[in-house]
Amino acid sequence: GMRRKLAAGNWKMNGTSAALGELDMLATSHPAPGVDILVCPPATLVSAAVRTVDNRSIRIGGQDCHSETNGAHTGDISAAMLRDAGATAVILGHSERRASHHETSEDVRAKARSAQKAGLMTVICLGESLLQRQATNTLDIIGAQLSLSVPDSSNGQNLVIAYEPIWAIGSGMTPTPDQIGEVHDFMRDRLEQRFGSGVGRSVRLLYGGSVKAANAAEIFGISNVDGALVGGASLTAADFGPIIAAL
Ligand code: G3H
Repeated sequence: GMRRKLAAGNWKMNGTSAALGELDMLATSHPAPGVDILVCPPATLVSAAVRTVDNRSIRIGGQDCHSETNGAHTGDISAAMLRDAGATAVILGHSERRASHHETSEDVRAKARSAQKAGLMTVICLGESLLQRQATNTLDIIGAQLSLSVPDSSNGQNLVIAYEPIWAIGSGMTPTPDQIGEVHDFMRDRLEQRFGSGVGRSVRLLYGGSVKAANAAEIFGISNVDGALVGGASLTAADFGPIIAAL
C-alpha cells in the first residue's frame, strides 16, 4: 500500500542513560528495513538517543511539547527545542497527559500546530475510557477527539493518529479485531471527509494498548491499522524487535 508501516515506542517516564544500550541493540538488529521505527524516550535522553542511533533507520521523538516556541513556562519544552535536539517527531495528547495534566483536545491541537510548524511529525493520541465504551458511544468520543485535536496544517507526512483505548493501556486487555477495525475505519472516513481522499488515505493510523509480540501480527492484519504505539514492550530490544518484525 501507499502507507509505510510504523512501529512507535513510547518509553513514558522510564529510562536513564543505561537504557540507550537497548536503543543501540535495536538499531543494530533492525529486523525490518521496509518499515519506519520511532522511539520516544524521556526528554532528558532525546539528544543522547539521537547520537546513539547515529543515522541508522530509527527516528527519535519527544512525548509532549508546549504550544509556544519559548517563554516563561517552567518545566516545559517547545517543539523547536525538540527539533534542535535532533527529534523528528512528538507524541501529543496521550491519555496519561490528558488525565494527569488536564490537556484538552484544544490544547493538543495548539501543540500539534506548533510541532508541525517546527517540522516535527505529530503522533496524536485518541481513545475512549471503559465507561465510555460500555455506554457504546466510542465513535462519538473518537470523532470529537479527532476533529478537535487535529490541526488544519496536517498532512500524510506530519500527522499520525494513535487509537489507544484507555482501558487497554498497560492492562493486558485489548479490543477485539472487529472493535479495532471499526474505530480505524471510522477514523479513516473522517480524515478523508476533512482532508480529501489523497491526504486522508496517506495518514497513518496506529493502534496502541497492550501490544506485544504475541498479539502484534493479528493487530497488524486489521484493515486501516498501519502500525502500533507501544509502551511497556518498547523498552527492550528483545520485546520491541519481534513487534517490529511482525509489521
Ligand atoms: O503509548 C503507549 C500506550 O500507552 C500503550 O502502552 O503498550 O504499555 O499498554 P502499553
